[in-house]
Amino acid sequence: MNKNLESLYKPIQYLGAKTRTLDTIVSECQRLYKKDSYVVDLFSGSSLVSQALYLNNMPVIANDVMTFCSDMSACLLNVAKTTNSVSLLKDAIKGISTYEIGSNFIEPFREYMVYEDRLIKTKDLQGLKELYSKLPVISNEKVEPSAQVKFIRENIGKEAFKYAPLITNYYSGSYFGIIQSIRLDTIRCYIELYFYENRDLWVYAALLTALYSTLSAIVHSAGKHFAQPISITDCNKDKITNIRLFENRSYDVDQLFVGFLKDILSKTGKKKDFSTCISTCYDAQDKSFASLLGNKTISVIYADPPYTAQQYSRFYHIPEVIKQYKYPQLQLYRGHITQGLYPDDKFKSDFCSKTKAKDAFRKVFGLVEKNKCSFILSYSESKKDATGNERMVTRNDILTIAKEFIPNYRVKQLRFDFDYRQLNSSAKVVREKEDKEFLIIFEKK
Ligand SMILES: C[S@@+](CC[C@H](N)C(=O)[O-])C[C@H]1O[C@@H](n2cnc3c(N)ncnc32)[C@H](O)[C@@H]1O
Repeated sequence: MNKNLESLYKPIQYLGAKTRTLDTIVSECQRLYKKDSYVVDLFSGSSLVSQALYLNNMPVIANDVMTFCSDMSACLLNVAKTTNSVSLLKDAIKGISTYEIGSNFIEPFREYMVYEDRLIKTKDLQGLKELYSKLPVISNEKVEPSAQVKFIRENIGKEAFKYAPLITNYYSGSYFGIIQSIRLDTIRCYIELYFYENRDLWVYAALLTALYSTLSAIVHSAGKHFAQPISITDCNKDKITNIRLFENRSYDVDQLFVGFLKDILSKTGKKKDFSTCISTCYDAQDKSFASLLGNKTISVIYADPPYTAQQYSRFYHIPEVIKQYKYPQLQLYRGHITQGLYPDDKFKSDFCSKTKAKDAFRKVFGLVEKNKCSFILSYSESKKDATGNERMVTRNDILTIAKEFIPNYRVKQLRFDFDYRQLNSSAKVVREKEDKEFLIIFEKK
């Protein structure tokens, strides 16, 4: 592994994060990079690629349409960091444990919190199941709406700071525990207040990033994303999801949060020069984004778009809602709130639509043509299209579109064959289903 990558910080468990192909992406970017220019990471996601480029001394413009992704890259690329930032962040760490939201908001949950604590300690699954089914959260149609729920229903779309705690009223008893949710709300409010008082953008991004890391560590879902919480369906103590429930619910939110902040401080402190990187949050097809790039010298654009119909905004709606901290209108399906508790205004990416993806790629190739730069594209091909992970565009579609825009570029394709020889036979079955990964390199001659 590239030595500079030792101080990478993996902020959250992110689907499609480019851990395995990182070394090659970096070396190809290095090969095509020209002094005093930028490399653009068009779909930055977890920020791993952006960090890797930055740690190898290439200034990066990291972009992703999800705002929480651009917070993570702003933090990890040291965007807007000043000489005061580190000491301000250390002060923020000192203040967090004593900060509380109004007790009038916590009081209606107090009894539930006491029960939850006892039930987790005694590993009482049946008790937890009953407790969560009685919880007066916004999605619980079986109980009388509480005063907080009534308030929220009248204030959809409004900011929740200083009002009924959003995370507790939406996600407790499902994605997170009740005690955990109260502390998550408290930390989210603390972050906003701290930003209001100090106006340090890097500290703000760092605190938010540590909060996203905390959400990702404690969430009770398959795969640690937020597409659906795992509900308690039976009380078999040996069932893996039930074992995980107690593990996930036992995490101390404050302890994790502070631990992540210390890790962020140490990893981002390795680069002593303040970064020239930029973190943005545009739809890659947006004209304003094209104009922003138009004013810079770009030598390489790297793109890792989604290729399936699965929208990232569905898997990661919770960090996005928590960033905005406005009471979301929840999506209804056949008159009922969905189990995933999705907001009804999730971003829909054209890259995830069979009818729109080709045009979306045309716009990306248009950017490459306009900026007269090299282009590196990650592509993944599913071995079994019948699994529902059908690609919205094929590799051939992409190569055809490329010919329309950049016919004179040198094209090279790298295919990654990961070494599975060490794995046992059950893992070989997985191998059959593994997606093939490619790097398609369009080099400006
Ligand atoms: C495969 S992931 C990128 C993963 C990233 N390379 C990493 O290592 O973590 C694709 C990303 O594209 C973003 N995205 C989807 N449609 C977009 C669009 N139209 N404009 C900008 N970003 C978009 C998603 O939010 C998601 O983070």
